[in-house]
Amino acid sequence: MRILITAGPTREHLDPVRFISNRSTGKMGFALAERAAARGHAVTLVAGPVTCETPAGVRRIDVVSACEMLDAVRRELGDAQALIMCAAVADWRPKRLSPVKLKKRDMEPILELEPNPDILLTLQPDKGGRLFVGFAAETGDPLAEAQRKLIAKGLDLLAANDVSQPDAGFAVDTNRVTLLAPGCDPEHLPLLTKHAVADRILDRLERLNL
Ligand code: CTP
Repeated sequence: MRILITAGPTREHLDPVRFISNRSTGKMGFALAERAAARGHAVTLVAGPVTCETPAGVRRIDVVSACEMLDAVRRELGDAQALIMCAAVADWRPKRLSPVKLKKRDMEPILELEPNPDILLTLQPDKGGRLFVGFAAETGDPLAEAQRKLIAKGLDLLAANDVSQPDAGFAVDTNRVTLLAPGCDPEHLPLLTKHAVADRILDRLERLNL
């Protein structure tokens, strides 16, 4: 299959040195890209700012902000049979972007924000026969919110995890996820390495593509 994967956080700059972001390190998305390429899929990886090495055989496109990620995914989607949105896209960006470093004395104590586009929702009309896979990072019981996102974002598969656990979620090599698909019982995976989680997601994706 030709698979488009997003990974890492996005950064929403206020000025050249300051930004809003989140704790994503890209490990889960890069594990997916590595395993997908090793299984013989053609992989394009759209990555936010991360320090991960590009896996062998993967075509990588680097982006910074959510808007840049949307542009890159939109450009690459035409050629893809599946989109896996593993990136932790920042939901908001500063309303104003200064081209020069803001001086402390010129800054307001209240930051004005505006919403970023939701990449999955924006590209829904272009989905066609493609498979869309999402992630849901929640703190606390992830299932109810994950079910809502599965339907609201029109996904074929969603990996939900509780990112408040120390051994799952951001910046660690293991993850504990539940896989949700429309009309299927939730599949609760045990604590696994992110590479093993990636393989379980790819097993499901390959079955959906039959
Ligand atoms: N996502 C996206 N575009 C955004 C935000 C999220 O495409 N602007 C994708 C993520 O990559 C993920 C899924 O939507 O696959 C769910 O992301 P999540 O952050 O859990 O949910 P949100 O829709 O941002 O909702 P909330 O922050 O309210 O939980």
